[in-house]
Amino acid sequence: DRGDLVLGIETSCDETGVALVRVTDDGPQLLVDAVASSVDEHARFGGIIPEVASRAHLEAIVPTLDRALAQADVDLGQVSAIAVTAGPGLVGPLTVGAAAAKALAVGLGKPLYGVNHVIGHAAVDELVHGAFPERFLALVVSGGHSSLLLVNDIATDVVELGQTLDDAAGEAFDKVGRLLGLPYPGGPHIDRLAREGTASIRFPRGLTAPKDQAAHADDFSFSGLKTAVARWVEARQDAGEEIPLPDVAASFAEAVADVLTAKTIAACRRHEVDTLVIGGGFSANSQLRAMAEERCAEAGITVRIPPIKFCTDNGAMIAALGSAAWRRGVAPSALDLPVDSSMPL
Ligand code: KG4
Ligand code: ZN
Repeated sequence: DRGDLVLGIETSCDETGVALVRVTDDGPQLLVDAVASSVDEHARFGGIIPEVASRAHLEAIVPTLDRALAQADVDLGQVSAIAVTAGPGLVGPLTVGAAAAKALAVGLGKPLYGVNHVIGHAAVDELVHGAFPERFLALVVSGGHSSLLLVNDIATDVVELGQTLDDAAGEAFDKVGRLLGLPYPGGPHIDRLAREGTASIRFPRGLTAPKDQAAHADDFSFSGLKTAVARWVEARQDAGEEIPLPDVAASFAEAVADVLTAKTIAACRRHEVDTLVIGGGFSANSQLRAMAEERCAEAGITVRIPPIKFCTDNGAMIAALGSAAWRRGVAPSALDLPVDSSMPL
């Protein structure tokens, strides 16, 4: 007996992901996680063009599904339920995944679960680090979002405590990367440079002043920091000075990691939770990982960060969240499930 199998489909941005999760008494088990990325194509344009991404998903979705089924040695007929990202994300890419998922649900006569991509970034950690505690906080940081979630039940009860008021953490890295003349996406390049530099420049920490902390305790803001970096660099350029790129990168990365970890740990204390899950593509960032691990250890908070391949967009996160909904007996979505580019939690 293979247990119930939940298929997950993710197409909200630039990765086409298809994964299979088996529901067992010991929790969800990942059978296969197939991903096709169009990031190289987007690098040519310095960003994601929605039409280019939609076409890439359309070309990749069936081969990626076939590859996942073949690798897991599973027939479509054995699938018990289909989960798909309903939002947030880019409308065209979301539509391709939803159309595929609906076609499978109709064709196989199996339930469809439209799930939230942001929650998926937290849900995937159950596949890696085992059952979740009763309550925990999740920090989901990527190119598209920086959200702090209070998770009472991953399938049915997730509260968004706060989010970024302007740029997402990864987006800020990508914008500063462009400013420093680094290739797209700039995030990983700044990470690498930062490891060679010293955080000697004091850049501002958004929403940490007492008055901001009162009004926006669980929110983030990175656009002021980005502007401060731009001003600092411009002033040196105008003076004909050389820009110490590694030190600028290290100082900027430290400011982002400092704000994210300080505010998140404060939220853990306020909400009396002792477990923090960090997910989303930006959780690949070494400065954030190091600082979160160090400060959570000091604060007595267990921090769970999935390996990088589960932090970037993938099908496993959607299969994991779908399997949680399936296990909890959540009512399936209607077959005319709409996609929602700005889907709330
Ligand atoms: O979750 P993801 O793959 O896609 C979105 O949903 O946005 O996140 C990608 C984002 C990009 O902004 C990328 O520059 C950033 O995460 N990123 C990083 C690192 N790896 C990826 N930023 C800083 N340091 C990294 N190591
Ligand atoms: Zn994502």
